[in-house]
Amino acid sequence: MLRSDGEKALEWAANYLQRVGDLPVLAQVRPGEIRARLPATAPEEGEPFSAVLRDLDQVLLPGVTHWQHPRYFAYFAISASEEAILSELLAATLNSVAILWRTAPASTELEGVVLDWTAELLGLPSGWHGHIEDSASTSTLATIIAAREATGRDLVVCSEQAHSSVQKAALMLGMRWRAVPCDEAFRLRADALGDLGDAAAVVATVGTTATTSVDPVAQIADACERAGTWLHVDAAYAGAAMVCPEHRWAFAGVECADSVVVNAHKWMLTPMDCSLLWTRRPEALRSAFSLIPEYLRTPDAEDALSLSEYGPALGRRFRALKLWTVLRCHGRRGLQEHIRRGIELASLFESWVAAEAGWELCAPRPFSVVCFRVDGGDDHNRMLLERVNASGEIFISHAVLAGRYVLRLAVGQMSTTEDDLRRTWNVLRREAASM
Ligand SMILES: Cc1ncc(COP(=O)(O)O)c(C=O)c1O
Repeated sequence: MLRSDGEKALEWAANYLQRVGDLPVLAQVRPGEIRARLPATAPEEGEPFSAVLRDLDQVLLPGVTHWQHPRYFAYFAISASEEAILSELLAATLNSVAILWRTAPASTELEGVVLDWTAELLGLPSGWHGHIEDSASTSTLATIIAAREATGRDLVVCSEQAHSSVQKAALMLGMRWRAVPCDEAFRLRADALGDLGDAAAVVATVGTTATTSVDPVAQIADACERAGTWLHVDAAYAGAAMVCPEHRWAFAGVECADSVVVNAHKWMLTPMDCSLLWTRRPEALRSAFSLIPEYLRTPDAEDALSLSEYGPALGRRFRALKLWTVLRCHGRRGLQEHIRRGIELASLFESWVAAEAGWELCAPRPFSVVCFRVDGGDDHNRMLLERVNASGEIFISHAVLAGRYVLRLAVGQMSTTEDDLRRTWNVLRREAASM
């Protein structure tokens, strides 16, 4: 079964990656349409795997928005590399469940190793504890829980441009939340941090969601140090760019942070989900999360290595395998090339917008995201976004900056070429001209 069906599944995957650029990037379906095509109940008797593959093509594929498409430029464009796709198959084959070190020694220890390797690649201090969570939302939630435990305080502070996961964490924990204003480049204003005496945690962002702006981490770290406040750095997207020495300026001061999150599933060629969380205060996480019922008790030396004691989940899957695969198959050089290529393409697109009458750039561009708009007001730009996305040729998203609606193009796919970008620019100008 595995050999014959596996061949077909692999063939399907290889074919898909070859032709994904010809499919409409944004799913062209209405809400409920896919559900309506599916039976209301599971089959009584098992069906062959080929039936699943057939329905993947015929029923589900029209309802897929193609994140692996070379003209996917919305939110943060991401790529799952071929090697990492294969390692997901291997991880599922092993089906390791790391509830304790002894249930998954290789998974547990490889996780430590790849987090150390990645810390070195990104210029993070050596010797920090690192482990993998499913998402940056969970990583940030976990560190805020640890910060509350360590400080006994109940306030979370971040910039008005911070990701909504920070406010959501505070909300879920019943903690107070305060947003600090930003400067003209959408960076947290350190002089507006205010009194941190009540603050359990400040979350600084390196690469904000809207514009990829970089908060002044070193200044924020000083303020946190004075106030005894936990500093968490959210580098979910831009952290990957630190593999290139020329972008390390954005991590200045990060060595003084208490914790840092970088999503390998964003700009590091690793398939969803793989969020990397480091802390220099692992004991604070362990104190917040360690709860070992009798049935999970093993000798102390083993307990110390159970990563489930450092975060919310008990059962942890073998995510380290795909990251290890990426690091080995691409290396420092491959990751640097991927980042540099994305930034180069974004810079090219930015130059086209800058040179075109009737279009404007709306934010500085530190990395691979360009914020821009066409003359004509918020509704006009909103309508343009809907039109270009409905074309199926490209998919971009938007942000609201200083009260204005702007379009947002994020480069991050391995397969995106200059031709894809040129076509994208042509679609935007064509649709704008026809409005
Ligand atoms: C800066 C930043 N932080 C956190 C997140 C949340 O990431 P996740 O989907 O892994 O929870 C995002 C999502 O795009 C983000 O841009």
